[in-house]
Amino acid sequence: MARFLQLTDLHVVAPGTLCSGVLDTGAIFRAAVERILARMPAIGRLDGVLVTGDISEDGSAASYDLAAQELARLGLPVYAVPGNHDCRDAFRAAFGGQAWMPPKGKIDWLADLPATRLIGLDTLVEGQGAGRLEPESLAFLTDALKSAGARSVVVALHHPPLRTGIRFMDNIGLENPEDLAAAIPAKCGPVIFVAGHVHGVYVGMIAGHRVVTAPSLCSAFALDRRHDAQIGFMTGPTGYAFLDTGSEDSWTAQPLMIGDGPFAF
Ligand SMILES: [Fe+2]
Repeated sequence: MARFLQLTDLHVVAPGTLCSGVLDTGAIFRAAVERILARMPAIGRLDGVLVTGDISEDGSAASYDLAAQELARLGLPVYAVPGNHDCRDAFRAAFGGQAWMPPKGKIDWLADLPATRLIGLDTLVEGQGAGRLEPESLAFLTDALKSAGARSVVVALHHPPLRTGIRFMDNIGLENPEDLAAAIPAKCGPVIFVAGHVHGVYVGMIAGHRVVTAPSLCSAFALDRRHDAQIGFMTGPTGYAFLDTGSEDSWTAQPLMIGDGPFAF
């Protein structure tokens, strides 16, 4: 089995600026890393950190430098896919030293760990919030699933193939979930799709496979399904997730702020 920390939607900005004029996301990420590091002894060995997009808010090199610096403090191999706020060139430059990073084109990749195949898919369409999987990414996925053998398979992508009921987020969701479903071979073993973008915990299915979304490290969207729901973000709850693969696989979302205790029963 393999065990991963999943981080998503960091929205780091260049130092000296604020995300949406409100959030110091660099400081929020730094504090989150401290909290996660403090929990590491209780969590045990991890095989990597999987970052499911929107690492940067503004696409600046300075924001990626800051994010990379904080990610490095985790002391784990880093795997990442871009989100709608990322800039593909700056993202590629920031993670260019990683073996999984393709030298050009879409940032679709795979990484084989013992008994686990990690697949990253690039849903970024620069200049818009909604995501899309282009034919090259779908073909990449089909090939990667067909050749996975007996490994556990995790597919990381920013835009999840599910709806939240939050109108302004569903309007910028994955544009072609039906193409994603069609790209999954009928005979492949169980796959878990892990995503972000919706800044909350949602569970869905695609072609009989699980889809989960992790909370953002910096903000959340209120579950407001009214037509006239106010468009905007909340400062919490924020969090991250852990993913275990293998015969006893599991995925759990964790809040950044936990209560006091433990108290005896
Ligand atoms: Fe996003």
